[in-house]
Parts: sequence; C-alpha cells; structure tokens
Amino acid sequence: MPDQFGAQPSQRELDRMDILAGLTASQKTLPARLFYDEAGCELFGRITGLPEYYVTRAETALLDHHAREIVADVEPGTSLIEYGASDERKGVALIDAAPGTLVTYVPIDIAGPALAALAERLRRSHPALRVEPVEADFTGPVELPRTGGGRRLGFFPGSTIGNFEPEMVLRFLRQTREDLADGLDGAPVRFLIGTDLFKDRAELIPAYDDAEGVTAAFNRNILRHVNRICDADFDPDHFAHRAVWNQQAGRIEMHLVSSAAQTIALGERSIAFARGETIHTESSYKHTREGFAALAAQAGWRSEQFWTDPDGRFGLHALLAT
Ligand code: AVI
Repeated sequence: MPDQFGAQPSQRELDRMDILAGLTASQKTLPARLFYDEAGCELFGRITGLPEYYVTRAETALLDHHAREIVADVEPGTSLIEYGASDERKGVALIDAAPGTLVTYVPIDIAGPALAALAERLRRSHPALRVEPVEADFTGPVELPRTGGGRRLGFFPGSTIGNFEPEMVLRFLRQTREDLADGLDGAPVRFLIGTDLFKDRAELIPAYDDAEGVTAAFNRNILRHVNRICDADFDPDHFAHRAVWNQQAGRIEMHLVSSAAQTIALGERSIAFARGETIHTESSYKHTREGFAALAAQAGWRSEQFWTDPDGRFGLHALLAT
C-alpha cells in the first residue's frame, strides 16, 4: 500500500505492519514467511531430513521414480519455471529425465543471494542449460523471461501451496495461469504442483512435533526474527511449541504457547499475553486429490494427471490451463 506521498513501503515496513496487525488480533498470529531467516532456513533443512517428516522424502522419491513419465508430454525446448526454488534437487530430477526437453530453468525466489548461488551451481553442473533466475515475491505477479518464445512448464513442489489459505491458493493459481501463459500465443500451459495428502492425525502430529525438537526450535526461532525486525524482547524460552490437527479445516496448525502471563515490548508498543495464550504461526493444509483438483478448476486449471507414492502420502498434480 503506497503511503500518503505515493511511496511503496519497504519489505521491512511490510513485515512490521503484518507483525503488529497479527499480534494485536484476538487470535494472535505471525506471518509464516518470517520463519525463513538464515537460522530458520537451516532448521527447515534439518526438518526435511527428520525421520518423522515424510513430506520431502515422499516427494523426492516420487519425482525420481516418475520423472520421465511426468515430462513425457512436454514439448522439446520448454522452460521450467520453479516457484520458491530454494534448491535445485527437484527441478534437476525433471531436467535430467529427458535431455533437450527442459532447456531453460527459471528459478523464482525472494531470497536473492541463495538464488544466485543456486544459479551458479547449476551453470557449473549443467553447462548446456540456460539458467535465468528471477528474484521476486511469487505471491504477486511475476514477469517471466521470454526465452525463445518457447513453452513453459510451471513447477511448485514441496507442498508450499499447503501453507496458503484456500483464498490465497485461488489467487496464486489465477495469477500464475496468467503469468505462465503471457506471450505464448495460446500454446498449452502446464503446471506441476506437489501437495501433501490428507492423512491420519497419528502420522501428522509427529511430522510437526518431532522427538528431537527441531520443529519446536524452528517455530520458536520466528520470535528471534521478530525481535530483530521490530526491536522486540520476546524470550523464545517462554513459549512452548504446539502442533494441532484441525480436522475440520484439514490443516496442521503450529502455535507458540505463552508459558506465563507476560508483556512483550515491541518497539514503542507492548503486547500482553495471558498464560496459555497462543500465537498461531503456521497452517499446513492437507488436500485430497479431488479437493485440490476442484480448487484448481475454480482458478482455470484442469488436473490432467496425478501421481502418488506407494503409501499414498504425497500427491503431484499435472494441471493444464483450460
Ligand atoms: C514449507 N512447508 C511446506 C512446510 C510444511 O510442511 O508446511 C513448513 C514446515 N513447518 C513445519 N515443518 C515444516
């Protein structure tokens, strides 16, 4: 939102506004994007390797196993556009599956230095691949490179879409449909999306509350990030990690539970917490195959194909723009 002089707020100002709005709401919240400071990225990397966190393993195995089939209908000369590309492992599984098919790789992410490092690694490991990183917040419109007037395959792995509220899923799918089709003169546009599947609470809770406490550390670390952004004095040790399965909404919720009545200074403001009061830090939606296909249909995509792992934990949808 521009200020009274028409200037756009910086990312830090936007973060501050969202933090203040979230912490003064009746159910306190924090924006989940604030998990990913340097320490948070490191902790998330550790989460992906935990025995309880099946998500990354299931999707990687799925891609490794079905990559050739997944790219079988993709025209030679296509660009692979990856949203939220934090590492190249999954994109490379598709690129390597059919040489000459995915000839350009467009990783999109808001974290510029990590994106530049990823691009550099890929230029070295895949010298024939054209790599065109785009530093952008992909929850808004993104101008994509017009590589050779070719075709585009969108790719959004990792169940990151599960961290979007349903209205945001619709907004994102409508926007990406427009961006991916832009300048392609009606060529078919496909989008591969990884979604975590609806499953039993007994499997979900440990995945978000592991025995080693890595997810708890990841959750609490958001408070350190808030301290830096807002000059606040949260003590992460005064908040406990809690993972809750909200069956009706179909989502895992992560909360930070205040272990005592306490008042937190947030710059000039102060925020009071009752003992046991929570900050809702993240929702991770689990979709059924049909539920996600119906959501995508509302945004102008048809789910053409679907792959899942042998245990039916994770799903990969191939969407075609209608
Ligand atoms: C990034 N995202 C898909 C993860 C998830 O499963 O929702 C974030 C995460 N939060 C706790 N563990 C992992």
